[in-house]
Amino acid sequence: MAVHRIAFGVMWLVLLQLITLPFVSMSIRSRATGGPFGHRVWDPLIRSPVDDPGKPEAEENEGIRWAILVAGSNGFANYRHQSDICHAYQILKRGGLKDENIVVFMYDDIANNKLNPRPGIIINRPDGDDVYAGVPKDYTGKAVSPENLFAVILGDKSAVKGGNGKVVNSSSNDRIFIYYSDHGGPGILGMPQNTYLYGKDFVEVLKKKHASGTYKEMVIYVEACESGSFFEGLMPENLNIYVTTASNAEESSYATYCPDMDPSPPEHFPCLGDLYSVAWMEDSESHNLKREAIVQQYKKVKERTSNHHTYDAGSHVMEYGNKSIHAEKLYLYQGFDPATENYPANQIDIHPRMDVVNQRSADLVFMWDRYKKMEDGSAEKGELLKQITNTMLHRNHLDGSMDIIGAFLFGPESGSAVLNHVRHGGLPIVDDWDCLKSSVRIFETHCGSLTQYGMKHMRAFANICNRGVSRAALEEACEAACTGHDLGQWDPAKRGFSA
Ligand SMILES: *[C@@H]1O[C@H](CO)[C@@H](O)[C@H](O)[C@H]1NC(C)=O
Ligand SMILES: *[C@@H]1O[C@H](CO)[C@@H](O)[C@H](O)[C@H]1NC(C)=O
Repeated sequence: MAVHRIAFGVMWLVLLQLITLPFVSMSIRSRATGGPFGHRVWDPLIRSPVDDPGKPEAEENEGIRWAILVAGSNGFANYRHQSDICHAYQILKRGGLKDENIVVFMYDDIANNKLNPRPGIIINRPDGDDVYAGVPKDYTGKAVSPENLFAVILGDKSAVKGGNGKVVNSSSNDRIFIYYSDHGGPGILGMPQNTYLYGKDFVEVLKKKHASGTYKEMVIYVEACESGSFFEGLMPENLNIYVTTASNAEESSYATYCPDMDPSPPEHFPCLGDLYSVAWMEDSESHNLKREAIVQQYKKVKERTSNHHTYDAGSHVMEYGNKSIHAEKLYLYQGFDPATENYPANQIDIHPRMDVVNQRSADLVFMWDRYKKMEDGSAEKGELLKQITNTMLHRNHLDGSMDIIGAFLFGPESGSAVLNHVRHGGLPIVDDWDCLKSSVRIFETHCGSLTQYGMKHMRAFANICNRGVSRAALEEACEAACTGHDLGQWDPAKRGFSA
């Protein structure tokens, strides 16, 4: 018996060596050549059960790979969203996707912003290279809109307003990858021109695209606060679409590589990236995407975005739609960079905990940091302080108004509980999306623009609708909360409505 066990043990040792040897040499080689991340050291001994090196997939008739990249914000304090999108473009480009098949939505006010310490350049990590060079300017400025995004997905060139008219003119054998990065809130994603993107509308567009039979499969990655709520209870399983989101339906997502974090670049930048976004992109760059399955990336990104399961500084990455699709190899969507030929499929490299900041606080962090570094007594410093205090006062006004509206409609005892109620059981945040939009307009008319910060109050409007509150009652509550308040720069008549 004992002899048997020893013989068995030796056999395993030999087998183990046979398995690990190719990886040791691979790891040494990648260190020697530097790779895209010369500083990253893969430990060949730490491997997870999902680390099956995988066989490269047999080449088939793969159709055309299309991609839509969307940065939903503008303003220098939101640097990271456009930076994420530019970085994704570089990955797809190295993966062999053609410019004619990649549609980019970005406001394009970062690279040449007067606050940019590296004019003409955008970086996505502290030691990162420029990711801006070569990014196509398909839809910039005002052309970054929900309507144009829908037209592009549907391949409807005639519906496009502004931009260069590039659309996803796909056929039934093609695959489509959509990646979006910005602020969000329950049921919505941000867009730079105030009007939000509503989950229901987006999924309707996907259904229409599916009905037109103009793609084989689609993969969608979304970075935003409460991004799970954009799909929860809405995203069907039968559209051949697989989705992952940075966060579940009721939590923030996180910005990273921010000022005064370790590591951070020497100059004065806002946050450079977002936790979920840099997790998938740094994963894609360091693996052979012909070997790595989407599910392997999902698991890796989930681990990293949880920030070692500290969910107060990390979020829950979620999957929606048809989850069978995640067994496919990543290169079918993101392409394949020949320089990664000798990289492994996936490997657990231990990431140190990342410093992060809540998406909704990231702009204030940057503004305060800028303020501290300015010359005392300068007019510019006074101006910035005014801007910061105005922003903070408006946030307090929005929060306070919602409290009053809750108390007005549901009583002071239960107002806040009703407004913050989270629906479970796979239900969407609201049943009547038209009610949600008209509630937003009623609120903004009386109380001012919700702005990107106020996106968090979408759940309150959803609950007001779910409770069947009438328009007249909501109007009355908003008047009670906001009459006499000077809307100033937050007047929706000047800024536009969020719905
Ligand atoms: C779309 O693709 C078809 C061929 O698949 C081509 O004939 C047509 O001209 C394309 N349309 C646009 C707007 O590029
Ligand atoms: C999900 O995708 C798989 C793989 O493409 C497919 O076989 C299956 O029918 C799909 N499921 C649904 C519900 O459409």
